[in-house]
Amino acid sequence: MEYKLSVLIIEDNENDAELNAHHLRKMGYNINYFRVETPAEMKNALKMQAWDLILSDYSMPRFDVLSALAIYHASGLDIPFIVISGAIGEEKAVELIKAGAHDFLLKDHMTRFASVVKREFREAHLRQQLANANTSLSISEERYRTMIEASPDGIFLTDLTGVITEVSAAGLALYSSDTGETLVGKPFAAILASKEEGILSEIFEKTLKQGLAQNFELRLLKKNNQVLVAEASSALLHDPVGKPISFMIIIRDISQRKSLEMQLIHSERMAGLGEMASGIAHEINQPLNTISMAMDNILGEVASNEKIEMEYLQKKSDKIFENITRIRNIIDHIRVFSRGHDDYILTGFSINTSILNAISMVSEQFKHHAIELRLNLADHLPQITGNTYKFEQVILNLLSNAKDALLEKEAGVAEYFEKTIEIKSFEQNSMLMVEVSDNGMGIAAENIPQLTLPFYTSKDPGKGTGLGLSVSYQIIKELHGQIEFSSKVAFGTQVMIILQTQNEKEA
Ligand SMILES: Nc1ncnc2c1ncn2[C@@H]1O[C@H](COP(=O)(O)OP(=O)(O)OP(=O)(O)O)[C@@H](O)[C@H]1O
Ligand SMILES: [Mg+2]
Repeated sequence: MEYKLSVLIIEDNENDAELNAHHLRKMGYNINYFRVETPAEMKNALKMQAWDLILSDYSMPRFDVLSALAIYHASGLDIPFIVISGAIGEEKAVELIKAGAHDFLLKDHMTRFASVVKREFREAHLRQQLANANTSLSISEERYRTMIEASPDGIFLTDLTGVITEVSAAGLALYSSDTGETLVGKPFAAILASKEEGILSEIFEKTLKQGLAQNFELRLLKKNNQVLVAEASSALLHDPVGKPISFMIIIRDISQRKSLEMQLIHSERMAGLGEMASGIAHEINQPLNTISMAMDNILGEVASNEKIEMEYLQKKSDKIFENITRIRNIIDHIRVFSRGHDDYILTGFSINTSILNAISMVSEQFKHHAIELRLNLADHLPQITGNTYKFEQVILNLLSNAKDALLEKEAGVAEYFEKTIEIKSFEQNSMLMVEVSDNGMGIAAENIPQLTLPFYTSKDPGKGTGLGLSVSYQIIKELHGQIEFSSKVAFGTQVMIILQTQNEKEA
C-alpha cells in the first residue's frame, strides 16, 4: 500500500534533498516534497499547506537547524522533525534533541531511517489522539461545570464519608446569601437541622446500594439559623475504573411549597370537618338518646314506686356514664384531629388503630345512610412511622369519597342495591396494604390519572373541593408509600395504599 506524504525538506543542496526523497520512496511512500533553505521560505511553507514530515540539514549557508527548530516550535505544529546531517559531535547531537528534534541521522549512515520515520509517525499519531482526548475531556468538563452552575437546584459533591468536596453557586446560596463562605471540607451533616442525620444515612445507604436515592425530605439549617425544607436526591459517582468515589446530592428548596401544602392539608381537614358536622351530630345523638332514655327510666321508676332499688339505679347510672364517656371520646378525638399537627413529629403507629379511629367519626353517619361497612383488618401488622392523624385523614377522605359514590349511584339507579364499603389491611411481600373498596358509581378510566390533582372534582360546587385525594396523595408520599386506584364505571372503586413496613425501610 502506498502512503501519500508531504515532506518539507530544509536543505541547501538539491541533490541531498532528492536523495532523502529517494530513501522515502524506497520505503513505499508516495511523496511530494518541497525544499526550503531560508527562514522566510520555511515560514511560508508551514503556512502554505499541511506537512507530514520535516527533514532538516544541520547547517546551511543561510539557515541552521536550531533556527529551523525555533520556527517549527513557534508554529505550534506537531510534525515529526528529523535532522539529517554530516558528522557532528556528540555534544551537538544532544543539543539538537534538547532543542526538540525528534531524531538525528548521519547522511552516510541512513540504515535507521525507515524505522525512525515509522516510529515518529506512530508517536505523532499517539500524541494527536491524546490531544484530541484532552480537548474532548476539557470540553465535557466545561459542559459539566456549566450544567452544575446553571442548575437552579443546589448541587453538593461529597466523598463517601459525606464530607463536602464541591458546591455549586446555587448550593452555596441556599445555605447563605453571601457566597464568600465555602462549605468544602465540612461534613454535609453539619448543614442539616438536628435529627436529620438519620435521613441522611438512609439516603447515603440507598445511594450506595442502588446508585440513586430520590425525593427525600430534609431540613437544612441555614447560616442564619433559619430552617429550609428541601427535597434531596442523591446519585453515586464513579471513577473511570468504576469505583464509587462520591455522592452528588441535589437539593431543591421546597419551603414555600411545603408551607402551602401544610395550609392546604389544614384547610382541607377543616372542610372535611365541616362536612362531617352532620355526621358528628349522629355520633353524639346516639349516646344522648341512650342517656335520656336511662333518665326517663329512673324518673318513671321513682314516680311509680316512690322508692328505688339501689341495684336498678346503679345499672342505669353505669349506662349513663358509659355514654357520657363515649361522647367525651368523640369530642376529644375531633379536637385533636382538627388541630394543626406538628408536621415533624413522627411516631410509630398502628394503621388498624388509625382506621378504627377514622371509622369512629363516621360510623353513625354510615348507619344513617344504610351503608354497610365491612372490616377486614389483619392482626399483628408491623407499625408505621409517621403522623397517625394524617393517616386517619386519608382514610376519612377515602370513606367520604366512597360514601358519595354510593349515594350518587343510589340516586341514579331504580332498583335497590346493598351499599357496601370494605376496608382491608394486610401484609404482602413486606409491604403493608390498606384497601378501601366500594360498590358505588365508579370512575371512568380517563379520569383516573387526574384524581390526585388538586381541585379535580366531579361534584357540584359547594359539595366537593377536589382536594381530598390530592392531600391524601401528599400524605402517603410523605410516608414513602403509594396510592393506586382501579375502578369500573357502575360497579365500584378500589383504592389501594401501599406502605413500606419499618423493616423494609431500614433494610
Ligand atoms: N370511590 C370513588 N368512587 C367514585 N369516584 C371517586 C371515588 N373517589 C374519588 N372519586 C372521584 O374523584 C374526584 C376527586 O376526589 P377528591 O376526594 O380529590 O375530591 P372531592 O371528593 O370531589 O372533593 P373533596 O374531597 O375535596 O371534598 C371526585 O370528585 C370523584 O369524581
Ligand atoms: Mg373527596
